Amino acid sequence: MSLQGKVAIVTGSGRGLGLAYAQELARQGAAVVVNDVDAATAADAVASITSAGGQAVSVVAPVGSTETAKQLVQTAVDTYGRLDILVTNAGVLRDTVLWKMSDDDFDTVIGVHLRGTFTCVREAATYMRANEIAGRIICIGSPTGQRGNFGQTNYAAAKAGIVGMVRTWALELKKAGITANAVIPVAATAMTATVPYFAAAMEADAQGEPMPPFFRHDLGFGTADDVAGLIAYLASDEASGVNGQAIGVGGDRLQVWSHPEPVVTAYHDGGWSYDALHADFAGLFQAQDVGEKFPPLPDDLQPTAAKA
Ligand SMILES: NC(=O)c1ccc[n+]([C@@H]2O[C@H](COP(=O)([O-])OP(=O)(O)OC[C@H]3O[C@@H](n4cnc5c(N)ncnc54)[C@H](O)[C@@H]3O)[C@@H](O)[C@H]2O)c1
Repeated sequence: MSLQGKVAIVTGSGRGLGLAYAQELARQGAAVVVNDVDAATAADAVASITSAGGQAVSVVAPVGSTETAKQLVQTAVDTYGRLDILVTNAGVLRDTVLWKMSDDDFDTVIGVHLRGTFTCVREAATYMRANEIAGRIICIGSPTGQRGNFGQTNYAAAKAGIVGMVRTWALELKKAGITANAVIPVAATAMTATVPYFAAAMEADAQGEPMPPFFRHDLGFGTADDVAGLIAYLASDEASGVNGQAIGVGGDRLQVWSHPEPVVTAYHDGGWSYDALHADFAGLFQAQDVGEKFPPLPDDLQPTAAKA
């Protein structure tokens, strides 16, 4: 097993994608520190790993603060003697349009995702550098962070920020042999359960049936387990050359995202004054679309309410 002897922390791993990541890392041989705010799901997650022959311990604490980050790293070191892998996965949603979004909606999402990623990675990277461990930092982004999404100001800011931090950490940690990458997952979990577009896929999953090929293939939408293999791969020694990347995975689909690049470069002697822009901008401008691209749902996969 390729992760034998390694120790991992997965934040928000009581259920959903985090649970699938923790279970897969354990299946590949890593000892895992499970973390969640929900004590019961954290205990169940640990039991699911240990009953399958793996090693796991839990830390019930909210990710966001430096205190929790220190507790997570300390638990890994105290329990298993080291830390090799950190997956920052914990997350919450407070969706609403900009003009209805409260300060609390914004701060809560930024606090868990962006601050939680920052504090945990700072703690883990500090430990890995001090102990000369060629560690693996895997942070969880979202298609919303890559392209924007209606009703998700807070979440888009947090997830785009995470990918921005990952690019920076890839530069800062490279010399220490530590990689930092972002995974952009899409999967059936509590977080996607209420999206009408995914209803037919969620129903199939709930009934233990395979999801329709449209979801798995065309949309790249599958189960949490479909994402877990990439997490374990990026955590392995074989992935030492993968650094600073944002890699999307869902269902049967894997996508390597580009980093933002200028699509138009133009020069104007003396600089781009208001008058110069009036004269030339229209001829240079190329409109780019924003938002996630969802192909139209086939008729037989429409949500029941829309079909009726
Ligand atoms: N499901 C998707 O399609 C999808 C798509 C893109 C990104 N993501 C991201 O994947 C991650 C996991 O999402 P999911 O779909 O499994 O959601 P989920 O709601 O099923 O799981 C999130 C887990 O995080 C825990 N959590 C919440 N706040 C926490 C905190 N402060 N500290 C520790 N744990 C906390 C929750 O209790 C829960 O167990 C999130 O970062 C999410 O933004 C999910």
